[in-house]
Amino acid sequence: MLVSAKSMLTKAKAGKYAVGQFNINNLEWTKAILLTAEELKSPVILGVSEGAGKYMCGYKTVVGMVKGMIEELGITVPVALHLDHGSYEGAMKCIEAGFSSVMFDGSHYPIEENIEKTTALVKLCEEKGLSLEAEVGAIGGEEDGVIGNGECADPNECKMIADLGVTMLAAGIGNIHGKYPANWPGLSFETLAAVSEKVGDMPLVLHGGTGIPAEMIQKAISLGVSKINVNTECQLAFQAATRKYVEEGKDLQGKGFDPRKLLAPGFEAIKATVKEKMELFGSVGKA
Ligand code: 13P
Repeated sequence: MLVSAKSMLTKAKAGKYAVGQFNINNLEWTKAILLTAEELKSPVILGVSEGAGKYMCGYKTVVGMVKGMIEELGITVPVALHLDHGSYEGAMKCIEAGFSSVMFDGSHYPIEENIEKTTALVKLCEEKGLSLEAEVGAIGGEEDGVIGNGECADPNECKMIADLGVTMLAAGIGNIHGKYPANWPGLSFETLAAVSEKVGDMPLVLHGGTGIPAEMIQKAISLGVSKINVNTECQLAFQAATRKYVEEGKDLQGKGFDPRKLLAPGFEAIKATVKEKMELFGSVGKA
């Protein structure tokens, strides 16, 4: 069953671990993430960007695929289906389509407008029992056309948004989507500690999980991060494994051209990446 992310994140915050949000792109991605979560008895959040939603033929298709898979694969761990970096309109569409969680990214609006739009969604999500993620301080880098500068959020603005009644809050702390540049100064733990102090029990979300060193992840969790988003790392693992298969000429041997064979190494690579992250985040056995 699809569930809101509220309960899993409240438990994660109290237990000082984090639940991974892994973005999905297609059937193989979704199956790999769900099976790994089930094997490790970990709660999991499936992230869908607006671009990925469009690619997968719309939010209704995504809901149908995920619900069908949960049933057919006998998935028993809590699964949240979450819109990643949604616009206001995108969030409305996902709520209607049957997502169990949405993110409204109003970080590029003036704070007053971010508050106004977030408030409207808080009310709607409460009525429907969905979790809502808000963002303050744009996350750096580019993800599906959403571009940010890697800002550090203003802790007072974080408090204002948290107080609206959102479920979880993404605060920019110098994190970036995609690969980190060699000269990246690292996460701003000073900002994170200040935000954490202001927002109290509110679970914090760390975007741009790809390539953040393990010690920084652990420190971020100790300072109140309870949800960590990973996207690019699964894409890179899939790409490397698929490249290897083709370079070794396996697609030319026997039935190696069969998509179920061609996509299998990439599928296994996503599983291995998700497993590694769940172990690092501490969510194994927490379902
Ligand atoms: P990465 O692609 O850097 O892992 O970031 C994922 C993310 O934050 C999704 O919102």
